[in-house]
Amino acid sequence: MVAILENPLRVGLRKERMPEPQILVIFGASGDLTQRKLVPAIYQMRLDRRLPPEVTVVGVARRPWSHDYFREQMREGVEKFGGGIGNEAFWEEFAKGLFYCPGDIDNPESYQKLKDFLAELDEQRRTRGNHIFYLSVSPNFFPEAIRQLGAAQLLADPVKHRLVIEKPFGRDLSSAKALNRVVQQVCQEQQVYRIDHYLGKETVQNLMVFRFANAIFEPLWNRQFVDHVQITVAETVGVEDRAGYYESSGALRDMLQNHLMQIFCLTAMEPPNSLDADSIRTEKMKVLQATRLADLHNLENSAIRGQYSAGWMKGKPVPGYHQEPGVDPNSTTPTYVAMKFLIDNWRWQGVPFYLRTGKRLPKKVSEIAIQFREVPLLIFQSAAQQTAPNVLTMRVHPNEGISLRFEAKMPGPDLRTRTVDMDFSYGSSFGVTSSDAYDRLLIDCMLGDQTLFTRSDEVEEAWRVVTPALLAWEAPMEQELVPKYEAGTWEPAEAELLINRDGRKWRRL
Ligand code: BG6
Repeated sequence: MVAILENPLRVGLRKERMPEPQILVIFGASGDLTQRKLVPAIYQMRLDRRLPPEVTVVGVARRPWSHDYFREQMREGVEKFGGGIGNEAFWEEFAKGLFYCPGDIDNPESYQKLKDFLAELDEQRRTRGNHIFYLSVSPNFFPEAIRQLGAAQLLADPVKHRLVIEKPFGRDLSSAKALNRVVQQVCQEQQVYRIDHYLGKETVQNLMVFRFANAIFEPLWNRQFVDHVQITVAETVGVEDRAGYYESSGALRDMLQNHLMQIFCLTAMEPPNSLDADSIRTEKMKVLQATRLADLHNLENSAIRGQYSAGWMKGKPVPGYHQEPGVDPNSTTPTYVAMKFLIDNWRWQGVPFYLRTGKRLPKKVSEIAIQFREVPLLIFQSAAQQTAPNVLTMRVHPNEGISLRFEAKMPGPDLRTRTVDMDFSYGSSFGVTSSDAYDRLLIDCMLGDQTLFTRSDEVEEAWRVVTPALLAWEAPMEQELVPKYEAGTWEPAEAELLINRDGRKWRRL
C-alpha cells in the first residue's frame, strides 16, 4: 500500500478548462459506440458540470429515426452503460440538446441538409459555429465521409471545425497514407483527432507522470537495468457480433498497431521538452522510427498470430472463431498476435519489447511489465530458494495501479527469501475508480488539445513497423498456417516459443 504524501494530480497533463459551447455530430450514430460510450460520457460530464449547458449532439445515420426515438435510445444507453440518469429534470434538459438527422454517407444532399440544420441549431442553442464531426462508421467509409464534409465546406474553418476519426486508421501503410492525403486535402492537421481510446485511460496517461515526475525511476529506465518489457492486453470476449468488421481487421489491426503500440511508445519514449501535444507526439514518433521487428529474416522469431478454437470459459463451452456468427468457416483472421520489437537507439539497444494481445484468453487484463536484470551475483544461494528478478508492473486493467516486485527475507532463523509486491492502487489511494477513457478524449477534443490523439506521421510509422508481418501473413501460401489456441488458454505454442527461445517466459497473469 502506498501512502499519498502530496497530491500527484498536481502534475496532471493539463488543467481542465470549460470548453466552449459546441455541437458534436456523430456519423454512425445508430451504432454501439454512440449509445454505449459517447452519449453516456457527455451526459456524465454535463452532470459533473464539466461541459456547458449548450452542448448539443446530432446523430447522423441511415436509419429513419426521429429526434424522440434517438433520445430514447440514448437514455437507454445512459441507464445501461453509463452512470445512470440521476436527476430526471436534468436529463430532460439535456435531452433537448439531442437531435437526429438521417443521412447517407455518400449523398451530397445529406451534407447540405446537415449544414442547414447545424446553422439552425447554432442559433437555437448558441453554439457559435463550433462543430465536431465524429466518424464512428465502418473504416471503409472514412474517405468518402471526409471528402463529402470537405465538399460541403463543413470543415472549412480551421479553428471551429474538427474531425474525429475512430481507429483503425487505414488497414496498412499505403491505405493509411492515402487516408492522410484525403484528410489533408480538406483540413489542416490541427483539426484532426485520430482517436485511440487507450490514450484516454487514466493509467496509460499516468505512465508519463510516473516516468517524468519521479526522479528515481528514470535512471533505471534503459538497457543497463532493464532486461525486457512485456505489454499485454488480454480479453476474455470473443468476436461477439462484430464479425463484419473483425473479419477484415483481426488482432493486429484491431489492437496491436494502435492500442498496444501507443502504450509501447509512452513506455519507451524520451522525456519530451514540454507537455504540449507536438513535443509528446514527436517523442513517440522518434521511438517508432527506431523500432523494428526483432528478426526480419525469420518472421517466426518476431511475430506470431493465432486463432481461437472451441474451448471453455468460466466452466462453459464456447465456440471457436470459425463457428462464430458471420465468420467465414475458412477464415484466417488472427484473434491473437504476439510481436517482439527492438528499438535501435542508445537507451534501448538490445532490450526486447514483447507485445501480445488476444481474444478468448483466460482473463481480461492489460498491463505493462518492466522486468529488470538479475542481480550480478546471488549470494543467498541455497537449494531451498530461487530469487526472481524485480518487475515493475503498471496495471491498466483491472485494479488499475502500479506494483514493484522484489525479494524480501522471510521471517525466521533461516536466511530464506520470498518474492513480495509493493502495491499502489488507484481505487484505494484516490478513493475513485478511473473514469471512462471517452470522456477525457471528448473533452480534450472540445478544448482543442491534441496530446492524446495520434498525429498523421505517427500512425503511418506504426503501420510501417508491422508491415513485414502483414505482408507475410497475407501471402497466399501463408493463409493456411494460422496456429490455433483453445479458447480459455493463454496462447498458441508458437507464441510461447517466441519468448522461450530467448530464455524468457510470458507472464502468467
Ligand atoms: C477496441 C477493439 O478498440 O478495443 C475491440 O476494437 C476491443 O476489439 C476493445 O475489445 C478493448 O477495449 P477495452 O477498453 O475494453 O480494453
